Amino acid sequence: MHTRHTLTLILLLFAGLFLSTNVLADDDSSSSDDDSSSHDADNPLHGTMEHVGKSFARLDRAFRGEPVRAQTRQYVIVAETMLKHLEAATNMTPARIRALPVGQRKNAAAAYSKDIRATTETTRKLVTALKTGNLKAAAALIKVLKQQRRAGHDKYQEEDEE
Ligand code: HEM
Repeated sequence: MHTRHTLTLILLLFAGLFLSTNVLADDDSSSSDDDSSSHDADNPLHGTMEHVGKSFARLDRAFRGEPVRAQTRQYVIVAETMLKHLEAATNMTPARIRALPVGQRKNAAAAYSKDIRATTETTRKLVTALKTGNLKAAAALIKVLKQQRRAGHDKYQEEDEE
């Protein structure tokens, strides 16, 4: 009798463990904070760029007026998040390039790589400017990023996308 109870207890413990891991796994997939996951599956750059866009929008909003010096640490975190996503984007290929005839893909991919790396570099400088409290330099770098975004989207974003 005693052994049976112990066995039941062990079984219950295992069942609980199994359920809780499943719940966690579910949580993980739903917390990827993306509303267009099916679209992202075949186009990871789109999802990554959306993350870049979210961080950049926050910084742009903060710097449109007078940035709040007391919030510099928050700005650093946002800029570092943006940097992380841009670094990920350097290993991806825009859908527009993947749709090109094979012979044209290599050069286009090299050009994309160069441009996205330049943007990543500007963002790295932005992180440094924020970390050293140089808000004036940060504001100037945000302007550069806007130009790089416009140029990058003109060259590599599909026509039907914004
Ligand atoms: C501050 C810099 C940048 C920001 C904030 C930004 C933001 C974004 C956002 C929000 C989207 C999604 C737009 C949509 O909903 O359709 C997007 C898409 C895209 N961006 Fe950027 N971007 C930046 C720089 C760049 C650069 C430098 C390049 C290229 C060198 C680039 C290439 C692309 C491409 C190719 C797409 C379309 C993804 C695809 O479907 O293939 N972006 N970007």
